[in-house]
Amino acid sequence: MPKYFMPTMLLSGKNCIKRHPRHFRQGKKCMIVTGRQSAVKSGALTDIKDVLEENGIEYELYDHITGETGISEIYALGKMMRANYIDYVIGIGGGTTLDAAKAAAVYAANDIKPMDIYDEDFANSLPVICVPTTAGTGSDTTQYVMMMLDDVHNRKSFKSDKCFPYATYLDSRYTMTLPIEVTRNTAVDALCHAVESYLNTQASAFSDVVALEAIRLIGSCAPHLIAGKVTEDDREKLLVAASSGGMAVAHTGLNVVHAMGHQLTCDKQVPHGRANGALLVEFIAWMAKHDIMRAVDVITAFGSDLPSLKRFIDRAAPVTEEITEKDIDKWIEQSIADGVKENCGGTFTREDERLIYYNALVNKERKFTKWQYN
Ligand SMILES: [Fe+2]
Repeated sequence: MPKYFMPTMLLSGKNCIKRHPRHFRQGKKCMIVTGRQSAVKSGALTDIKDVLEENGIEYELYDHITGETGISEIYALGKMMRANYIDYVIGIGGGTTLDAAKAAAVYAANDIKPMDIYDEDFANSLPVICVPTTAGTGSDTTQYVMMMLDDVHNRKSFKSDKCFPYATYLDSRYTMTLPIEVTRNTAVDALCHAVESYLNTQASAFSDVVALEAIRLIGSCAPHLIAGKVTEDDREKLLVAASSGGMAVAHTGLNVVHAMGHQLTCDKQVPHGRANGALLVEFIAWMAKHDIMRAVDVITAFGSDLPSLKRFIDRAAPVTEEITEKDIDKWIEQSIADGVKENCGGTFTREDERLIYYNALVNKERKFTKWQYN
C-alpha cells in the first residue's frame, strides 16, 4: 500500500532563517557542523549566528568537515556533543556535511560503538536542522546517511526514520557563490535522484508527484546551466528540485544509476553528479524497453526528448576520462556486489549493465530516435 512519511519541516525563500526563527528554539545549546568555507562564504553562518544570539541560544562551532571526514571523526564529534550537553545540531553545507551532522546527532543521542550505527536500530537522534549550500544532495529531506569508513574509496550508508532532519531551510542566496561546475554537477545529481525514483519498483503516486516536479524544475533551468548563466530564480528552482528529489528518493530508494556511477567515482575519481549523469540517458533508454510510458513521462517532464537530454548532460556534465572495456568488467563485478539490481524492475542482467556502461562511456557512435536508442 503506498504510504508517505516526510516529517521534515521545510522552509524556503530568501531570508527564511530570519523570517522563521522559531524552529531554532530546540533547546539551550546547539552545535553547528560545517566545513571550512561554504558556511562563511555563503552568508549562512552569519544568519544562523544572528538568529541564535537573538534567541539566547548558546552554540559551539565545528567547522572541520571535509570530503575526507570519516566515521572516526564523526563518532568523536557525536561524543563531544554528548559531553557538552548539546540539545540539537545545525548542519550547513553540501551532502557530506549534512550527513556528518546527521550521523553525529545519532552518536550524541546513543551510547553505541561506531559501526553499530549500521544496525539501524538506535533509539533516537538529536534534532538536526539542515541548511544546504549546494542544490543536489537531497540529504536535507531524507532518512539516509552516507559516511566514509576507513578510506575515501569506502563509503557506506544507513537509513533510519530517526535521521530525517527536524527542519530544513532552503535559501537560494546560500548557493549563489557556488562555482558553475559544482552547480551543474549537483543539478545533474538531483536530476538522477528524481529519475531513479520515478523509474523504480518502489515508486508510488506520492513519490511520483515530487519526482516529476523536480525533473521539470531542473529541465526549466537547463538552458541557463549550459550557458553558465544561472540566475537567482534558477538557483531557487534548483534548490527546491534537489530537496524534492530527496523526498522522492526517501520513499523509493535509488536505482542502478547511482550504484553504477559509484564505481566511476571510486575508480576514476569522477565527481558524483558527473558520474551518475553519464549513465542516466542509457538507463532511461533501457527502462523505455520495459515501460515506455514512464520513460516518456521523465523525458517530457524535463521538457525535451532523449537526444536533447543527452546533449544537455554531455554539455553540462561531460565525462572526459578514458574508460576501457576492462574497467567496465571490473565495475560490473563490484556493482553486483553492491546490489545494483535493487529497485530496477524488468530483468536487469549483467549484459544490460555492460551495455549501459559501454554505450554511455565507450561507444561514441550511438544512434538514437526521439524516445529510444536504435
Ligand atoms: Fe546522488
